Amino acid sequence: MTTQVPDSRTGAAPAPTGPLSRIDYSEKIPNNVNLAEDRRLQRALEGWQPKFLDWWKTLGPQLPTKDVYLRTAIAVGRDGWAHFDHVPMEDYRWGIFLAENDPDKTITFGKHKGEPVWTEVPGEHRADLMRLIVIQGDTEPASVAQQRVLGETAPSIYDMRNLFQVNVEEGRHLWAMVYLLHAYFGREGRDEAEQLLKRNSGDLDAPRILGAFNEETTDWLQFFMFTYFTDRDGKYQLGTLKESAFDPLARTCEFMLKEEAHHMFVGTTGVQRTVQRTAEVTAEKGSPAGFDDGVIPLEVIQKYLNFQFSVSMDLFGSEQSTNAGNYYSSGLKGRWQETRRKDDHVLLDDVRTMTVVDGGELQEKEVPMLSALNLDLRDEYVADCANGVRRWNQELEDRGLAERLVLPHEGFNRKVGAYAQHHLSPEGHVLTDAEWDAAKDGWLPSEDDRRAVAALMVPEYEYGKFAGWISPPQSGINDQPVEFDYVHLAEEGLV
Ligand SMILES: [Fe+2]
Ligand SMILES: [Fe+2]
Repeated sequence: MTTQVPDSRTGAAPAPTGPLSRIDYSEKIPNNVNLAEDRRLQRALEGWQPKFLDWWKTLGPQLPTKDVYLRTAIAVGRDGWAHFDHVPMEDYRWGIFLAENDPDKTITFGKHKGEPVWTEVPGEHRADLMRLIVIQGDTEPASVAQQRVLGETAPSIYDMRNLFQVNVEEGRHLWAMVYLLHAYFGREGRDEAEQLLKRNSGDLDAPRILGAFNEETTDWLQFFMFTYFTDRDGKYQLGTLKESAFDPLARTCEFMLKEEAHHMFVGTTGVQRTVQRTAEVTAEKGSPAGFDDGVIPLEVIQKYLNFQFSVSMDLFGSEQSTNAGNYYSSGLKGRWQETRRKDDHVLLDDVRTMTVVDGGELQEKEVPMLSALNLDLRDEYVADCANGVRRWNQELEDRGLAERLVLPHEGFNRKVGAYAQHHLSPEGHVLTDAEWDAAKDGWLPSEDDRRAVAALMVPEYEYGKFAGWISPPQSGINDQPVEFDYVHLAEEGLV
């Protein structure tokens, strides 16, 4: 059984770390956590399941489909964990899968370094752990709701399938967090699990917790930018939680990361194919191609990139954060690739530099490392983001074009942290309010840009055909051809 072409940064699924544990599909909630032996927990989750399904029907994908060629997790702990088949989306087997247990595992950082990992929640960290889980959990259903209308304008059946794959897996990630809340946080956890279905993206009274998850996903270019930049933020957050001393959380996040690789693949290749098409038409006509040519102009792609990168940067929180330092020292949240870092993993005496705006200029200042762990994670993220941009630029270079896409400065369009009170250009120049107001429509998608992109978003539902603004992918999903019948629309079932 093969899996997706992995994201180039994530690589293939990790090597086996333990015995293969098959998921028991005879149970109502597929799981590898011995749910059958915990009747109380099982009943709590079975009580939550119909509410989840109601939520899925109301805020999940809006386009009626008969079935979709989806990947379902069937095992953990080694490559070959997924099974592909056509399934009606409402029958998707959302389940609870943890990476394999390692009974000898110890904490790798902070003041408890070297002690055995926790299999229960320590009372003193209960509130913080629950908060971390709720924040992570809140993003999962948010993105499904944000993307719910996109099926109606899918540029191909192949792309539509990828959208729905991302959607069902974000649904499963919600399950993963709800399991932790139900299993380890009692009545409070159950209340929080209910709230995860009640908050709604963009809702004025009950919005999602984090800003980027209240932005509308207006069109497919934004969806691709979202899966590239915002799912990648998710990858880095999960990467810190996978180091957690609270082992059930660590193992849950480790497994989620496998699924996330495909989401970022959708983003990387989606933007790449969009750039490719624009570059092809530009090369053919010998001058910059745009909306009149049926493609998205490069400067608008750059604006979408600027927007999604900057709102995703905000998700890392303030550069300096006492909470982040406390989470680290107490073992709740590690660093990206904690075990590969060549330092003492306690960081009490370490320092680093950060950039601040001072007197209208960018200045470097030295800060304690422990206070700057959000920045540490964000730096890793930015380096990773740059890889995709290089790949997109290759499309331009291959066609002999001089233009290039770039990541904006870290201080551009920020609402959170050291830059929040300042305006910076994409090149990193500090601007006055008036300068910003005069220039911002050249840097961020304007209403007109979004309208023009939306006008190109005509659905293409014929197998193997693609809308004119995007190139076909190089290969299909799971070794199927590009023209495979990845989605059967509901109408087909009725004819
Ligand atoms: Fe997710
Ligand atoms: Fe994702």
